[in-house]
Amino acid sequence: MSARILLVDDDAALLDALPEALRLRMNGIQIDTSETAIDALERIRETDYDAIVSDIKMPGMDGLTLLREIRELRPATPTLMITGHGERDLAVQALRGGAYDFVQKPIDRDYFVASLKRAIQLRRLDREVEQQRLALERHARVLEHVDDGVFLLDDAGVVQHWNPAAQAITGIAPDRALGRPAAEILPGWEAVAPLIPIATAPTPGSVEAKVVPLELDGRELWLSISGVTFSDGVVYAFRSLTEERALEELKGEFIATVSHELRTPLAAVYGSAQTLLREDIDLDEADKKRLLDVIAQESERLSRIADDILYASNLDSGQFALGEKRIDLRALAQDVVEEMRACFAARQDISIELTISAVLDPVAGDPDKLRQVLINLIDNAVKYSPDGGRVEVAIEPREGGVRISVRDEGIGIASLEQRRIFGKFYRVDPGLTRGVGGTGLGLYICRELVRRMEGRLSVSSDEGKGSTFSVDLPLAAAGTEAAAVAQTV
Ligand SMILES: Nc1ncnc2c1ncn2[C@@H]1O[C@H](COP(=O)(O)OP(=O)(O)OP(=O)(O)O)[C@@H](O)[C@H]1O
Ligand SMILES: [Mg+2]
Repeated sequence: MSARILLVDDDAALLDALPEALRLRMNGIQIDTSETAIDALERIRETDYDAIVSDIKMPGMDGLTLLREIRELRPATPTLMITGHGERDLAVQALRGGAYDFVQKPIDRDYFVASLKRAIQLRRLDREVEQQRLALERHARVLEHVDDGVFLLDDAGVVQHWNPAAQAITGIAPDRALGRPAAEILPGWEAVAPLIPIATAPTPGSVEAKVVPLELDGRELWLSISGVTFSDGVVYAFRSLTEERALEELKGEFIATVSHELRTPLAAVYGSAQTLLREDIDLDEADKKRLLDVIAQESERLSRIADDILYASNLDSGQFALGEKRIDLRALAQDVVEEMRACFAARQDISIELTISAVLDPVAGDPDKLRQVLINLIDNAVKYSPDGGRVEVAIEPREGGVRISVRDEGIGIASLEQRRIFGKFYRVDPGLTRGVGGTGLGLYICRELVRRMEGRLSVSSDEGKGSTFSVDLPLAAAGTEAAAVAQTV
């Protein structure tokens, strides 16, 4: 055992004999000696001994005083005291003063060596623990400074660590997070968690981080997140996709959707025009009419897409005027439903129903815009009901306002998608909805319009069973009502 100890005794004979005896019994031990407590203190200041052995009775500073100094200077160093035969009081005082053990003169060498070995062992363990603590502290400090949000969930899903970056990204302070289940502090966590890739070892690049949306305090966060399991749970690391990155993704989506949406009608227009121009085939008037119809219809679709894009961009830039009027919901809804029934006359598997509660207060808003919202919602309800069914438009009073809901029995929307569909150009799995055209702007425009009317557009849906979109609008205030009436007169 390689260790370094200090032996303090005014008895020169003992200082000669004891080290020899120790060296014989303890391999690799290094022994310094001091004849006085003063000299010993100097050495102790310079060297961090593994153990100290000191006589109690010494001229000048005695052993008990030295012990007190050692406890101050080197509180972790075990100190053995040597007492005279029968000096029980001193021995007890030494133990009270923090001595590790005491031996009596004449020294029982076996006992002494065994006690010293234990003391050195103890010191070694202390040092190891200290080193591990320092390493842990270092790691914790590193975690405090990384840009990535890091949090630790124990096996019960309770947050055990929450670093400052996690706070910066989510806005959730550690005292709100620590000790609480992740599902409580991160709305949507339960839906998102199974999607997050978890590695079993922290090998770099062993799993690809997954991008998931979370809604915190009404704002949507896109997190790129992955996890690593360890003995007591999972450590998650995440970063927030920057706005530029989100914008990049949006641009990519936009180009993919728009080019896909443009290509279909363009191909139809091009094909029809080419056919009309061919001289090698004889087209009768009916054929020509059919081809021209295609050109007219598809051009209309093209211009609708262009309109939607322009409209959305006007909404974004704020160049947008909202007529402030009172809305006669009953008439408006009846009108829209009539129009949509005519529009989808070919879909005999669909029925569009309207129910209106008997008493309805007038609501505030712009009738033209609300009309547009309802058309979009009913259009979606029919479009995403490929197997037909009932589309139900219902209007009823609700908590100081009016709720208009459009319910369908169509394909429904997975819960994870329910927040995203209101995003610009967002379409659920464009591959699967192929054949059903759209730019993914409809709901974005709806939500913006409803928001500007100080209302709220929300969705609830059961995947595979159907969806309900609800527009909540505030009642027209008495003042605006009067103004609106005055205007219409
Ligand atoms: N009633 C619904 N049932 C199921 N999915 C729906 C429903 N309404 C919307 N969605 C989903 O939400 C996505 C976004 O809808 P949105 O109206 O914004 O775009 P779109 O219908 O694809 O295109 P656009 O309305 O611009 O022509 C749709 O692509 C569809 O996947
Ligand atoms: Mg739509």
